[in-house]
Amino acid sequence: MNPLIEELKDLSRQALDAVQRAGDERALEAVRVEYLGRKDGRISGVLRGLASLDAEERPAVGAEANRVKQLVAEALETRAGAFSHKAARAPGLDLTLPPRSPWRGTVHPVSQVVDDIWQIFKSLGFTRARGPEVDDEWYNFVALNTPLDHPAADEQDTLYLGPELLLRSHTSPVQIRTMQAYEPPIRIIAPGMAYRRDTYDATHTPAFMQIEGLVVDEGVTFVDFKATLAEFARRFWGPGTRVRFRPGFFPFTEPSAEVDVKRVIVRDDGSREETPWIEIMGAGMVDPAVLDNVGYDSERYTGWAFGMGPGRIALLKYGVPDLRLFYENDMRFLGQFAVPRGGAS
Ligand code: DAH
Repeated sequence: MNPLIEELKDLSRQALDAVQRAGDERALEAVRVEYLGRKDGRISGVLRGLASLDAEERPAVGAEANRVKQLVAEALETRAGAFSHKAARAPGLDLTLPPRSPWRGTVHPVSQVVDDIWQIFKSLGFTRARGPEVDDEWYNFVALNTPLDHPAADEQDTLYLGPELLLRSHTSPVQIRTMQAYEPPIRIIAPGMAYRRDTYDATHTPAFMQIEGLVVDEGVTFVDFKATLAEFARRFWGPGTRVRFRPGFFPFTEPSAEVDVKRVIVRDDGSREETPWIEIMGAGMVDPAVLDNVGYDSERYTGWAFGMGPGRIALLKYGVPDLRLFYENDMRFLGQFAVPRGGAS
């Protein structure tokens, strides 16, 4: 028999003996290093020496070296297991204590509001659209009938990334991209982030969620506009909700409106409470100039659009006093909005 095989058998006996004698984890680790250590381990050394053996000897010695290595590694593992078992039975450790429940992520409260709003519009026949958060001046302003000398296009308000490149200041550019990509009829909802050089305070954050809506078709009228948004508000806030359209101004709609809701809460004892009027969105009939900009025939098609802030709606819905709480990602705060698995109700 090859003397190396003799030596391996001997090494194996010594190693297994040392494993049994190791009294704690540190001693066990020393045994591992002595025999299996990558650099100076005695068994590893034999394996390394294989290269200098004759070709006929190599397979037998190699097989034996691997068998011994395996054997010692298994013995080390078994012994280590025995130590941790002992540790677990150490005084002061109560194995009957229930484990900490695993942390399961929950849907962010603003995302829940987005989901709820999306579900309502989906049931009204809308589809979902998206566009890039980095966009250019043409999509963000010019195509939306907003001249570049408009205050909104000023560097005071918009986060520019380059001469014409910017972080979109609203989700309205998705209107333009959608109309460029599809012919009417269009009925879309486009939730997404928008960015502005805003102060960071209780009602403003420089990065915030918006939801854009757009309808374009033949024969779409102001009546469709008002009726659809009123239906949305009643489904979201309850059947007694009152909706008010105040005149407003946006460059991309004519006429434009600010939409307010007033919730009417009827208690079990019959008493009623009315909330103040709360502004929920900007909206209006799509300006024909916008339809022209995407090559639609503005004689044939009409449309309406809106933009709303689900962050602000979440503030109202949950009675949270400060928008920043939604964006600071403190799990103790966000965990309170956990909804049962299966999504928002
Ligand atoms: N883009 C507007 C904003 O960010 C919101 C808005 C108003 C969107 C009217 C619309 C609209 O689509 O028709 O303040």
